[in-house]
Amino acid sequence: MTEADKNLMYFNPDEEESPKQTAATAPKDAPEPKPEIMMELRDVSKAFGEGDQRIMVLEGFNATFEKGQVTSIMGGSGSGKSTVLKHMIGAYKPDSGKIFVDGEDITGFNQKQMDTVRKKFGFMFQSGALFQSMSVEENVALPLREHTDLNETTIKIMVKLKLEMVGLRGCEHLKPAQLSGGMIKRIALARAIALDPKMVFYDEPSAGLDPISIGVIDKLIVDLTKKMGITAVVVTHELPSAMRISDKIIMLFKGKIVFEGSPEEIRTSDDPRVIQFINGSPDGPIPFSKSQVDLGEELKQMNFL
Ligand SMILES: Nc1ncnc2c1ncn2[C@@H]1O[C@H](COP(=O)(O)OP(=O)(O)OP(=O)(O)O)[C@@H](O)[C@H]1O
Ligand SMILES: [Mg+2]
Repeated sequence: MTEADKNLMYFNPDEEESPKQTAATAPKDAPEPKPEIMMELRDVSKAFGEGDQRIMVLEGFNATFEKGQVTSIMGGSGSGKSTVLKHMIGAYKPDSGKIFVDGEDITGFNQKQMDTVRKKFGFMFQSGALFQSMSVEENVALPLREHTDLNETTIKIMVKLKLEMVGLRGCEHLKPAQLSGGMIKRIALARAIALDPKMVFYDEPSAGLDPISIGVIDKLIVDLTKKMGITAVVVTHELPSAMRISDKIIMLFKGKIVFEGSPEEIRTSDDPRVIQFINGSPDGPIPFSKSQVDLGEELKQMNFL
């Protein structure tokens, strides 16, 4: 049994949080313990395309992702969120800059070396990405069957533990078509943590869900992160959700970080780009149009004007 499974045995999602240390009980002048860094992107830049079509998608991107914390990446469409995620999971290599996992520089790693690193990662994709022909049990068991030599009984027990964590034990026999959208996300989450990853990447975990289901997913992300000591990276458009779950929010605009800080700090930011994003305003420094070229100029060049 792994360390995380031992923790699970004592995990009760309904139990009260242990009382937090208050200013009155904390020893005076005790320095805040600094969380350890799980992953770092240092001065990462990436461009796509050639000549006129060349666009800088990430420019001097610097960020750290701390162990046991939830970091959310937010920003408008096309701001570079997925590109950051793809660098983190090794799907893209940076044009310049470095990527560290657990203090190890993985920038130059080949496919085989990356496969070893990826064993530390869990992924929850936007659509859930469950296999329709497989039962819930088979879907959650898949990473265990592919990446471990565990026997069938152990796999069944581990699947049960993971399903218990997401509140869906008893659904083993169901097929994805028999599940609601919220249940699919929870099963995808159970599969993402099947191998007890150190780090889980969530791509739009609450997209398309009703507010209660969003609340359920939010609680699961926080519980898993805190109780299993997982490092969570969440790409999301749901501001209320990001405010609830994040230790840190990174906001991107045109491939650059325009804000990095706590939910409280984002609320009080006076950066017009942050204010526009928080208020969901169509007018402001973040343009609605994707085009960099003025429409009038483009029509003039085409001899329309
Ligand atoms: N493989 C690629 N080839 C060329 N351009 C790309 C590639 N991947 C991303 N881009 C461009 O990089 C920019 C950022 O894309 P990215 O997918 O990271 O945005 P995003 O913030 O995830 O947006 P959304 O919220 O719409 O998912 C976009 O202009 C996109 O067209
Ligand atoms: Mg994206």
